[in-house]
Amino acid sequence: MKPLSRRQALALGVAGAGAIAIGGGGLLLAQAPFRPETGGRLKEPVVLSNRGTVLNVRLEAAPAAVTVAGRPASVAAYNGSLPGPTLRLRPGDRLHATLVNGLGAPTNLHVHGLHVSPSGNGDNSFVRVEPGASFDYEYVLPANHPSGTFWYHPHHHGSVADQLAAGLYGAIIVEDLEEVPVTRERLLLVSDISLTGTGSLRPPSTAEQMSGREGETVMVNGQVRPVLSATSGDRERWRIINACPARYLRLQMEGSQLQVLAIDGRSLVTPAQLEEFLLAPGNRADLLVELVDGTTILRAAPYDRGSMTGMMGRGRAAVSRPIDLLTVTTGGPPHSGLPPVPGTRGLRDLRKEPVVARRRLDFSMGMGSGMSPDGIQFTINGKEFDAGRIDEIVSVGSVEEWTLTNSSPMDHPLHLHVWPVQIIEKGRAPTGPTLQDVVNIPARGEVKILVSFDDFPGRTVFHCHILDHEDMGMMGVIEAR
Ligand code: C2O
Ligand code: CU
Ligand code: CU
Repeated sequence: MKPLSRRQALALGVAGAGAIAIGGGGLLLAQAPFRPETGGRLKEPVVLSNRGTVLNVRLEAAPAAVTVAGRPASVAAYNGSLPGPTLRLRPGDRLHATLVNGLGAPTNLHVHGLHVSPSGNGDNSFVRVEPGASFDYEYVLPANHPSGTFWYHPHHHGSVADQLAAGLYGAIIVEDLEEVPVTRERLLLVSDISLTGTGSLRPPSTAEQMSGREGETVMVNGQVRPVLSATSGDRERWRIINACPARYLRLQMEGSQLQVLAIDGRSLVTPAQLEEFLLAPGNRADLLVELVDGTTILRAAPYDRGSMTGMMGRGRAAVSRPIDLLTVTTGGPPHSGLPPVPGTRGLRDLRKEPVVARRRLDFSMGMGSGMSPDGIQFTINGKEFDAGRIDEIVSVGSVEEWTLTNSSPMDHPLHLHVWPVQIIEKGRAPTGPTLQDVVNIPARGEVKILVSFDDFPGRTVFHCHILDHEDMGMMGVIEAR
């Protein structure tokens, strides 16, 4: 077995802590593939919610012995569970999170997609929490914060992919003020992990890091192809999160269309009927599912996100294999229907607002003396990440038009913290404008977006959400003044 690389050991601080099986039978077992159990009733992580307007939580990131797909595994997790607890909030709430670092390597916490201040002890990606230390985050959601599905994960530059791939992630739900009538809602947090036969983390190869690692075992709430059972006539809301470090999920539902209610926590005017829906890493979709008698499968179809082949002849094609995520079985006496889903007010359309500034961001991969182990540089506008440099300065309250170009042979999903973006060219725009916080820029492609820099002055980041790319430098600093 290949031991954890020094870099990965540093990222997790678990080397020597018994996470690596060495010697004798352990070695053979470690070389054997991980054999996940499939099936089993769909479970959901524990939910932390509040009665008042403040939610106090303690999140401890630490090595954990958990059950992954029915097998014992040594991972890293929040509060010992994979995924971590689900945090439920309402617009206007305050989330007070004490992050305790039990990892033995620096970490921090990011609330992906929340529209909150990036400064001080808010959603500040520059915070560094040392091993054994803790940090009190305070996130204040504006009263008009969108309701929807968000998530949290570590954001310490250089070890984000390792820490996420090890199991550190959880969901954040901002509840609706006006509830959508459904029988029940479910969280489906999709993640992937690579484990050895003994259930230890398997480090990625350099080639895997260059492409963006895809874990061998794809899970929904820490299970492999769990079974969701429902009664005919049920209508469910599924909150799906793509928490994989690099895997794209091209969602399809066997024999039926997908009704997409919201993307990245922003509701569409009316649910869009789609054959399939692509979730880049970091994206979320809320689906409305009307259940009819029978068995069906939620699947991730193969997606070609390009490859590094051609760059020094390295890398491999990154076409993913099809993956069955979830089996849905429906039966029982059908019950009476629910009231129809009301339309929402719809989203603000930034196309109607004056554009104050335009800028261009080019995502590229080039030869050079980059941060990556391979020397390939992952850059935005020719620059690797530097926390001490401000790359873009924007004015609070202004609307900007950004042209995102990709001069590389692989897709890169752009993610901007704090402010959602509206795609105006080249994207899918199901019903009217949609706001997203992760936008895929296809290989050699171009996408145009509008961004409204509302509310929060401060310094934050934008980056590729293929987290290996981010760790290797594909990230920039933005300051709103
Ligand atoms: Cu989900 Cu800057 O990350
Ligand atoms: Cu984010
Ligand atoms: Cu990328």
